[in-house]
Amino acid sequence: MTQLPRVCVIGAGSSGIAAVKALRDRGLPHACYEKGADLGGNWLFRNANGMSAAYESLHINTDAKLMEYRDFPMPPGTPDYPSHRVIKAYFDDYADRFGLRENIRFGVEVTRARRRPDGAWEVSLDSGETELFDALVVANGHHWDPRWPDPPYPGEFHGEQIHSHAYLNPREPVDFHGKRVLVVGMGNSAMDIACELSRPGIAERLYLSARRGVWILPKYLFGIPMSRLGMLPHWFPWWIGSALTRLAVTINAGTPWRFGLPRPDHRMLQAHPTISQEIFIRLGSGDILPRPGIQRLAGDRVAFTDGRVELVDAIVWCTGYKLSLPFFDPEFISAPGNDLPLWERMVKPGIDNLFFVGLLQPLGAIMPIAEAQGRFIGDHLLGRIALPDQAEMRRAMERERAAMFRRYRDRSARHTMQVDFENYLHRLRKHARLGARRAGQGLPVPARAAADPR
Ligand SMILES: Cc1cc2nc3c(=O)[nH]c(=O)nc-3n(C[C@H](O)[C@H](O)[C@H](O)COP(=O)(O)OP(=O)(O)OC[C@H]3O[C@@H](n4cnc5c(N)ncnc54)[C@H](O)[C@@H]3O)c2cc1C
Ligand SMILES: NC(=O)c1ccc[n+]([C@@H]2O[C@H](COP(=O)([O-])OP(=O)(O)OC[C@H]3O[C@@H](n4cnc5c(N)ncnc54)[C@H](OP(=O)(O)O)[C@@H]3O)[C@@H](O)[C@H]2O)c1
Repeated sequence: MTQLPRVCVIGAGSSGIAAVKALRDRGLPHACYEKGADLGGNWLFRNANGMSAAYESLHINTDAKLMEYRDFPMPPGTPDYPSHRVIKAYFDDYADRFGLRENIRFGVEVTRARRRPDGAWEVSLDSGETELFDALVVANGHHWDPRWPDPPYPGEFHGEQIHSHAYLNPREPVDFHGKRVLVVGMGNSAMDIACELSRPGIAERLYLSARRGVWILPKYLFGIPMSRLGMLPHWFPWWIGSALTRLAVTINAGTPWRFGLPRPDHRMLQAHPTISQEIFIRLGSGDILPRPGIQRLAGDRVAFTDGRVELVDAIVWCTGYKLSLPFFDPEFISAPGNDLPLWERMVKPGIDNLFFVGLLQPLGAIMPIAEAQGRFIGDHLLGRIALPDQAEMRRAMERERAAMFRRYRDRSARHTMQVDFENYLHRLRKHARLGARRAGQGLPVPARAAADPR
């Protein structure tokens, strides 16, 4: 019987468990290492790994139907936008239903992953052990390493300041009651946190600083979850989708500048979606005071680019996250400026036994994509799907990147791995079909680890 390659999965968040299921379904030997005491990653509130960004009031913003794994629907009666607790319970049910915990070791961090000259992976754990694998699947998430303003703003701030990652985290307690709070950023963290802190009885004043304008999509459009209405078919040009969405959203909800926010300098769907049903109401009620970008920090004050200066007690920097791969030698793989070019966000051409899962920013949910990636990688490792050759992969990457940067023109660190949900899934299905025709050459990654004399 042919020996199959032994696979290591780093991380048991929603991407890692989807990969584990695909490997298990295909009988590929595998071990998954999870730093936290339980699975769920970001969705395990107060995760002992210190990496979860979830706050008490977090609810998903891509609706449940869009987010569910395609082979494990959420139970009937699940609300459209449930809380982090419901989502974590769903991941638990998924893992229990398919027996996924069996090969996951919890409370174990991968501290180093080194590719030996013969291609095998030496995986070092914080327990002091080193294990050998034939292939490595990285699913360590990309929303846990806070990105602070870089370069920092000139001047000094003497009040309290946290990144949104630490919002309401008992490890970094900040009491916002009765304070003048400044929330910086216009992504989804900023929306949730500004809305929550501006409710009567919490912050005394809430300023929201937007260094540039964004379009804001409601969670519901005409009573239907926005993400269900807004998913473009794979063949649909995004710019037509952009015009239609803009028309529907602005008729239904209004424009940001009507509420004192800057005008976006881009079309709708040319930035990662900012979603909030509540922000316009809080702005319209005067509970959130819009401000432009920051010019400088000055002790207990903040000066803005329009010349206004405000007294501020606390700042919440909702300035996003860095993509970090701390277990690789930086000369081997790193992501300066958050940019790690990959073929279909999974493969680095030239490294035939390294795969990434969930390392993308979809206009849509990550989970069904991670599930499809896991299946693709599993089928590839079994020799059922052959990848294109390196030159073709590089050409395809160039094409995809050029299209992405044409569309997301700001080239900011938050727009380096954008994909359209249906379009990406369609591409993966096409690669699977074409790859199946090319297959038949045996296992692409030989099984060496089990026989290694070490
Ligand atoms: C506040 C917030 C809300 C979000 N809401 C949504 C949403 O509504 N819909 C959506 O689609 N996406 C949302 N996202 C995006 C989020 O990235 C995904 O929901 C999801 O968490 C991605 O899963 P993941 O498994 O890739 O990463 P994570 O959930 O981050 O899981 C990664 C896992 O890897 C483990 N790990 C990392 N490094 C190591 C190591 N060295 N050794 C061992 N284990 C390791 C971690 O402990 C963790 O369990 C949100 C993100 C944030 C920050
Ligand atoms: N309810 C939910 O489901 C929920 C809640 C929170 C987060 N999320 C998800 O989590 C991910 C991260 O979201 P996020 O909001 O934390 O980060 P984000 O989407 O990267 O947004 C960061 C924001 O900070 C701004 N910014 C960055 N650097 C800045 C600086 N130096 N000065 C001023 N502004 C700066 C960015 O502006 P520029 O565009 O100008 O760079 C952007 O508006 C996203 O996928 C998001 O959808 C989901």
